[in-house]
Amino acid sequence: MVVAALQLLRSPPVPAAKHRILWGSKILQDPPTVTHAEAMAEDDRGLFKWLSNVDKFGFCFISGVPATPEATEELSRRIGFLRETQYGTFWDFTSDLAKGDTAYTTLALGAHTDTTYFTDPCGLQLFHLLEHTGGTGGATLLVDGFYVASILKELHLDAYELLSTVPVPTHAAGEPEALYTPSTRQTPVLKHEDGVLVQVRWNNDDRSVIRNLKPDQVEPWYEAIRLWYKLLSSPDSEYWVQLSPRLLTPILPSSCGTVVDNHRVLHGRSAFTGKRRMCGAYTGMDEYRSKLAVLSERFAPDPVTADTAARASVNGRSVWHPAL
Ligand SMILES: [Fe+2]
Repeated sequence: MVVAALQLLRSPPVPAAKHRILWGSKILQDPPTVTHAEAMAEDDRGLFKWLSNVDKFGFCFISGVPATPEATEELSRRIGFLRETQYGTFWDFTSDLAKGDTAYTTLALGAHTDTTYFTDPCGLQLFHLLEHTGGTGGATLLVDGFYVASILKELHLDAYELLSTVPVPTHAAGEPEALYTPSTRQTPVLKHEDGVLVQVRWNNDDRSVIRNLKPDQVEPWYEAIRLWYKLLSSPDSEYWVQLSPRLLTPILPSSCGTVVDNHRVLHGRSAFTGKRRMCGAYTGMDEYRSKLAVLSERFAPDPVTADTAARASVNGRSVWHPAL
């Protein structure tokens, strides 16, 4: 615990990756967006722009997506293989409680990441509002978990250390045929590698009973999650956007799909009435990173890759390629 705390104290500001841009609520002035035509274009330049935006900001809108499940699934498969889960491969759902999960209700959902109960939580989530009729509400909430973590670290280092070191047990048990828990030692809310924050894992609805705290950690840990949630739900952090199949604004010109990096950006929604039909899919983090790496080789190669391209021997890569 002491060693881990010292590592965190020495670690650089969150996150270390220079290309990442942390954001708060002001992102509403210019949210990262590509058009559906760009994302689907055969030359893949728009796909590179799209996934680079996800890499920088942890999310990206795709405007002008036809409001059909077919078009949305085709868009999702541009990233890579879809990840099949207990919710299916490509979901198309309403608030009918078809699954024992809060997503299938009309309730407000606080900012959370999905599948915290998996050993490897889903990487990207793409969702698209197909229809909302006969009611109001259902605004979409996005929060940059790395931004909030950076503020927590700055203001409340003790709380940051606790959320970075205390493992949090999680589960999914909404249906008789499913009982998911991570197979490895549970992960803390803020997961680090070599002192650098790499993943936020937070869903209070999927949290199991906390049995692993030492007696003197109980009150500080609950105080830490209170501080975390206070920052997470502050007006400075929350980006609210009312997506609509018929949305007409200068920034989001029409039906809009959303992709979030589920290891960084938390999502939620306000309560709603009426019929709201959503569709979407998950991809694994590895599939997304592979696609982005291949597109980076083509459109923005690093200096070593560019300099050694002439000596490429296997699949266009030389032995000096940084990944080999
Ligand atoms: Fe969710």
